[in-house]
Amino acid sequence: MRTKLSGLVDAEKGLLDRSIFVDKDLYQQELEQIFGRCWLVIGHESQVPNPNDFASSYMGEDPVLLTRDSKGKLHAFLNMCRHRGNRICRADAGNAPSFMCTYHGWTFATDGKLVGVPGYKEAYFEELDRSQWGLVEARVDSYKGLVFATWDKQAPSLPDYLSDIPWYMDLQFDRRAGGTEVVGGILKWILPANWKFPADNFAGDNYHAPITHASTNLAGIRHGRNPTPGSGGRGQSYSVHAGNGHGVISIGINPNREELRNAPPSLNVPDIVRDYYDAHMKEFNQRLGSLRASNITPKILTVFPNFSTHMRSQLRVYHPRGPERTEMWVYCLVDKETPHEVREAMHTNLTLTFGPSGTLDQDDMNNWVQCTASGKGLMGKKHLINLQLGLGHDGHNELVPGTVGTNPSETPQRYYYARWAELMDASSWSDISSSPITYTTK
Ligand code: FES
Ligand SMILES: [Fe+2]
Repeated sequence: MRTKLSGLVDAEKGLLDRSIFVDKDLYQQELEQIFGRCWLVIGHESQVPNPNDFASSYMGEDPVLLTRDSKGKLHAFLNMCRHRGNRICRADAGNAPSFMCTYHGWTFATDGKLVGVPGYKEAYFEELDRSQWGLVEARVDSYKGLVFATWDKQAPSLPDYLSDIPWYMDLQFDRRAGGTEVVGGILKWILPANWKFPADNFAGDNYHAPITHASTNLAGIRHGRNPTPGSGGRGQSYSVHAGNGHGVISIGINPNREELRNAPPSLNVPDIVRDYYDAHMKEFNQRLGSLRASNITPKILTVFPNFSTHMRSQLRVYHPRGPERTEMWVYCLVDKETPHEVREAMHTNLTLTFGPSGTLDQDDMNNWVQCTASGKGLMGKKHLINLQLGLGHDGHNELVPGTVGTNPSETPQRYYYARWAELMDASSWSDISSSPITYTTK
């Protein structure tokens, strides 16, 4: 039986029950109603540039294959043989015209069709209807190279699902005419915490950085431009709910671009990378408009439910592995025209600060582990999570899409969990609002 979530998430009061991070039944409900329904990021088109290229990924706990078939069309398939259920592909990525199951040899083409069955004549007497036993396929669509998939035929179109978040995503995905590509391998590791904590953090937590990352700052990896608590950030700066649970940590309104450029970097960005962005600021301006281009500096957001971007070059996916375990995947994304030495510097800088050995991810993960664990304590689970930063101060600014909260605030997170509860309570997409949910405005 499904648990009604309205009593566990109170977005209007900014309160959360800790069980949503540890309860096993709720987790199963999440797999079905969040990961079985939403558009999920499964990779980037640049991972499969040629016919018959493939890349492995996950949708929730289900392994999936992103393929480009022999005619160039993208597909997302459950990585599961239709005979007994063996994985049909165990490689991370590659190029192959077909996938032969290692159990009994059923073979599937990159368009999902079952094209080979050992003993089809002699043992099946040609009575197996092969057309009915192709790979299980998800709906697939992409946004400026980023590939999403959903299992739910009723799910809204990807543009409707994304709502206003593309306006902010473009800062990373549409800076230059040639588009973007991922470089290097994917950083993967297991985080012993609930998957929603990193999603929450990247959706709107501009509050934690001066404290959580103090050690990184002390180590000389600068993290200096985050607002101190209560300062409201620099200039007119907002956190944003960009519709449908998607959150942006901060956007500056009318910032002085020269001032921004001369300000110390918020992370230890190598000079060669800063020079690259400065050199192309004019192009960014022309493509994005000066307001967005001026925000080409740090940009951190979460696309509901489990995908985040950070700064200029990081993509993050939080694959659930139980209520208290998350498989973290981090990709490095660059503009296709980025010179070799600049992309090398970006990749090195990313691994210094994020991923299993990155100083900032280590700072953050320690907190997420403890926050998850407290939900299991006899007393801990009796006390609610506070999500009230900036409560009652939401509004709108005509220059940017979405609902804006003060910065720092927990406005994006309140909307994130409200969306989560809405999906967890709804029996299908027809019960879910397609327009941005609103629970409180100034
Ligand atoms: S499980 Fe794949 S062929 Fe039998
Ligand atoms: Fe952090």
